[in-house]
Amino acid sequence: MEKHEAKSRIDQLRELLNEYGHHYYVLDKPIVSDAEYDQLMQELVSLEEKHPELITDDSPTVRVGGEPLPFFNKVQHDVPMLSLGNAFNEEDLRDFDRRVKQGLNEAEPTYSCELKIDGLAVSLKYEQGKFIRGATRGDGSVGEDITQNLKTIRSIPLRLKEEVTLEVRGEAFMPKRSFEKLNEAKEAAGEEKFANPRNAAAGSLRQLDPKIAAKRNLDLFLYSLGRIENDQITSHHQALNYIQDLGLKINQESRHCRNIDEVIEYVKSWVEKRPDLPYEIDGIVIKVDELDQQITLGFTAKSPRWAIAYKFPAEEVVTKLIGIDLNVGRTGVVTPTAILEPVTVAGTTVKRASLHNEDLIREKDIKIGDSVVVKKAGDIIPEVVNVLLELRTGEEQDFHMPTQCPECESELVRLEGEVALRCINPKCPAQIREGLTHFVSRNAMNIDGLGERVIAQLFAEGLVEDVADLYKLKREQLLQLERMGEKSVDNLLSAIEATKENSLEKLLFGLGIRFVGAKAAKTLAMHFETIEALQLADYETLKAVNEIGEKMANSIVNYFEQEEVIELINELNELGVSMTYKGPKLPSAEDVQESPFLGKTVVLTGKLAQLTRDEAKEKIEALGGKITGSVSKKTDLVIVGEDAGSKLAKAQELGITVWSEEQFIEETAN
Ligand code: IVH
Repeated sequence: MEKHEAKSRIDQLRELLNEYGHHYYVLDKPIVSDAEYDQLMQELVSLEEKHPELITDDSPTVRVGGEPLPFFNKVQHDVPMLSLGNAFNEEDLRDFDRRVKQGLNEAEPTYSCELKIDGLAVSLKYEQGKFIRGATRGDGSVGEDITQNLKTIRSIPLRLKEEVTLEVRGEAFMPKRSFEKLNEAKEAAGEEKFANPRNAAAGSLRQLDPKIAAKRNLDLFLYSLGRIENDQITSHHQALNYIQDLGLKINQESRHCRNIDEVIEYVKSWVEKRPDLPYEIDGIVIKVDELDQQITLGFTAKSPRWAIAYKFPAEEVVTKLIGIDLNVGRTGVVTPTAILEPVTVAGTTVKRASLHNEDLIREKDIKIGDSVVVKKAGDIIPEVVNVLLELRTGEEQDFHMPTQCPECESELVRLEGEVALRCINPKCPAQIREGLTHFVSRNAMNIDGLGERVIAQLFAEGLVEDVADLYKLKREQLLQLERMGEKSVDNLLSAIEATKENSLEKLLFGLGIRFVGAKAAKTLAMHFETIEALQLADYETLKAVNEIGEKMANSIVNYFEQEEVIELINELNELGVSMTYKGPKLPSAEDVQESPFLGKTVVLTGKLAQLTRDEAKEKIEALGGKITGSVSKKTDLVIVGEDAGSKLAKAQELGITVWSEEQFIEETAN
């Protein structure tokens, strides 16, 4: 066949296969037989083999998976991928409704309700209609580029029906049937099975070899747009329809509810229907439908105020408590852990559950040998609910906390006002190990490839005794460790190196200063900008910072006074670890005083060209302004980008001040 003939047949095949694929995988309504589809696909594969120069990266043949990758690249999300607050019962849902109404000045919201698919969140980016990148959620700000694997999911169109540039988000998952088949195959091959469909989906998408993902039969439902820059879309349910019109797959069970009573009815109906679904869900997501109202409600640090996840009641299972282990944490707290006869709870095998402290063991009257009821709190963390006293045989044994640290044998103490027993030996190996694990964890320095196991290895071999040692590791040293090949050593070293450029809050959180969580670390980093400034801050200065209370201020001062801490920070500095804040700047108190936004209600509309919407919003809020979604008589200022529609018209009608994006940038430049 001549090349031009081949090209036109290839084009034709691609178009047909895309269309058939859309009906089969997205709409679940095939219009040709499987055999016919396979035959056309085969023809395309062989034509592309004969004419490799005609292969494009959006050809339907990429679904079979290309070459393996050496590692996943990191991806910065334009709009952070947040999580949701939880509701566990009707009362929580009514509270949510009250908070929403309060936030909206008693306006009546309507709600969009969707199934909460139990998979993993992914972001898809399209440029002029072409699928260019897919990423995992990661820590919410930075995820991993899994484009190659996502391309193997047939319901993800490689081209949209319109040539638009946008980001869509959704949940990738493995249908129940595929999960069962996969595990049957694993069992037959003598391999370890996946605990549940979510782990199987996550495991498949984190394979460097896309051929593996291609065989796993994954699917995906899209549930939101990254940023909505289309003035025609004013509600979440319209956004969903738009996503569907572009050729993307949305879940068909969502419902637009007029009020919280209808929401509760919807939620209840799914408690019953849940087992019949061909995929796993772990709850229902409830979202305020009007986008303007969503903007008015805004976000907390972790999640939107306009949405909540209702979680189905946790499954409870009976098992035997066969022993109690002791664990020494990063701060020296000794925690008793129940060792259980393994049972399956909500899809995974549970062997251990934290018992928190001795008081709780007394309160629940737990003895070794008891039959206990176990559930997973929030469907994640195993917990002993209660003891089945009627099943006691008299053989059960009482448990007593030790008086010495199980790891270093120093005397344990009970600090005033605390229920926990602590090991206060700063050289306790368990504490050091846990501290190192915390330092490398995702919300702290986020060093890929360094988990609990490798840390334990490095520590046991004497290669790492404090966090600074991580930055002194040598290739030769690592190569000697068990289960560490050249590739993993190189990857680990470059992962460590990369964290030297982290913004200050990651280091601050990683240091593990008492009471300083990830959020406080961010506040401190934003406020002080360098570690020197924070080291110099006294109690009063710290307490004056918004959200920093007495306990935390004290703890920070005490922490930085310690000789070892001063040394550690100098050492990290010399090793090249950055100690400055790299995120958006906070304006000074004077800026706020003089700010044209102080106490003003501002609406952003249209497409901004130089700033992201979040950057603009952050600036305005930092300068004392409040962002709302809709223009009303209460609006003081409207800032308009390109293609502003009805909101601009409304502002003009009401005689509200309107600024262009340039004007806004000028006013906020300093
Ligand atoms: S909306 C701002 N809708 O649940 C967060 N999430 O904690 C917006 N999920 O990580 C999320 N189904 O992966 C949304 N229909 C749905 C969902 C859904 C599953 C997951 C998502 C997210 C987590 C929320």
